[in-house]
Amino acid sequence: MAVGVFDSGLGGLTVLRALEKRLPDVPFVYFADSAHAPYGVRTADDIYNLTCAAVERLWEEGCDLVILACNTASAAALRRMQESWLPKDKRVLGVFVPLIEALTEREWGDNSPPREVAVKHVALFATPATVSSRAFQRELAFRAIGVDVEAQACGGVVDAIEDGDMILAEALVRSHVDALKRKMPDPQAAILGCTHYPLMEETFQDALGEGVEVYSQANLVAESMAFYLDRHPEMRGSGTEAKFLTTGDPRKVSGRSIPFMKRDLQFEKA
Ligand code: DGL
Repeated sequence: MAVGVFDSGLGGLTVLRALEKRLPDVPFVYFADSAHAPYGVRTADDIYNLTCAAVERLWEEGCDLVILACNTASAAALRRMQESWLPKDKRVLGVFVPLIEALTEREWGDNSPPREVAVKHVALFATPATVSSRAFQRELAFRAIGVDVEAQACGGVVDAIEDGDMILAEALVRSHVDALKRKMPDPQAAILGCTHYPLMEETFQDALGEGVEVYSQANLVAESMAFYLDRHPEMRGSGTEAKFLTTGDPRKVSGRSIPFMKRDLQFEKA
């Protein structure tokens, strides 16, 4: 009954942590494509090919359901994968929709026409590839009208976090928040649209100010996944063992994972 969780690197562990807490009986197989991270500066074709290869590897581990715990892959590759690549007996789900449902006050799977919602000015912080895909605005437009979104591409933040350089990551976050505020001085809500950013949540909140509600994905994704598995128990794959796979150097990756999971992890070569 294993479920796959994919990210370009370690950021998806912020989602995995929430998933483990919400679904303690499910073994999760985590795949970090560390050799090719960051994805945020790659082309959409590149992201699509790398994500498909990673998902195929997770199928080999008996995971019929794979969660793309990566906004960049969810934004740049997921739709294409679902429309033209995915076999009928497999599912790949992204991390965008649960967040947008929360922002637009919708229940899971509520497909009613777009309507006015309380929040009007939203700041989106994400990788350059996620911002240029405009996937967030597209998904939002299916559900809400009259919401002004200002997107800020946060170059460099993922690299700094993957390298464990939190001083650089903090400086970059502050400069990206300043840049956003020059375009949208008073956002009501801010979306941390990259699974690496929860590690910098305090810095985002501090730089944005207390009045701004910061939405982070992990718990929202875990909740909607629990709901999904309840309705689709057949999507629990045949795998039985939780594991951590990486295309990078397993020792190096294991050593850097502690801040994300708050415990020691042993990565294996994918
Ligand atoms: N953590 C990922 C995301 O949510 C990927 C970042 C990257 O590889 O650039 O977008």
